[in-house]
Amino acid sequence: MSDDELQTLLGGVWQRLAKAVEDPADPWRLPALGVQGLNGPSVRMMVLRSACRTDRVLTAQTDIRSTKIPGFRKDPRVAWLFYDPASKVQVRATGRATIHHNDELTRRAWPSVPETNQLNYSTALPPGATISDPALGQAANDDPASAFANFAVIWCEITRIDWLQLGPQSHRRAQFTWNGSEWLAAWTVP
Ligand SMILES: Cc1cc2nc3c(=O)[nH]c(=O)nc-3n(C[C@H](O)[C@H](O)[C@H](O)COP(=O)(O)O)c2cc1C
Repeated sequence: MSDDELQTLLGGVWQRLAKAVEDPADPWRLPALGVQGLNGPSVRMMVLRSACRTDRVLTAQTDIRSTKIPGFRKDPRVAWLFYDPASKVQVRATGRATIHHNDELTRRAWPSVPETNQLNYSTALPPGATISDPALGQAANDDPASAFANFAVIWCEITRIDWLQLGPQSHRRAQFTWNGSEWLAAWTVP
């Protein structure tokens, strides 16, 4: 397969990621996001909020008070994991995260967060806080200003993509590495 075909494959990955953002039925809309937490590796499901091939950026949204935030600050390297059980395609995307909070980017993103989701950011206690009853962990008020104060965007610049497809007869794997000006592509042993 030529480099052109690998670049087409890469283009298809970014296209699919962008489509998944808009499609609640797409399993790539719910990736796992891994980071080096304060107490070792940590991983969680996230909703993919944007995917931009031109900027090589994936984003997610979270509560600035969540325990993952100090992890990103300690070590900004991140790993995203996407899997589609129908096509048996796994994509791993790695890069570096920047946390946006109370800035131009979060102000632009906030209006497109559905009101019911905005409420998730207005719990009195931070995510992960110990409570005596689950009811105490629910959003206590509907004050959009206090909710926005906790809203953060995890903005990840991607520099490596590992694509793997399991097939009935054979498996295929390709790796894409951003060298600062272009994506270098290679087939690798699955
Ligand atoms: C399907 C699903 C989607 C989720 N999406 C998000 C999300 O977009 N943002 C978020 O902060 N947490 C999301 N969560 C919750 C996280 O997985 C995690 O439990 C939470 O962010 C606290 O993680 P932390 O302790 O690592 O900060 C989601 C969980 C599930 C099950």
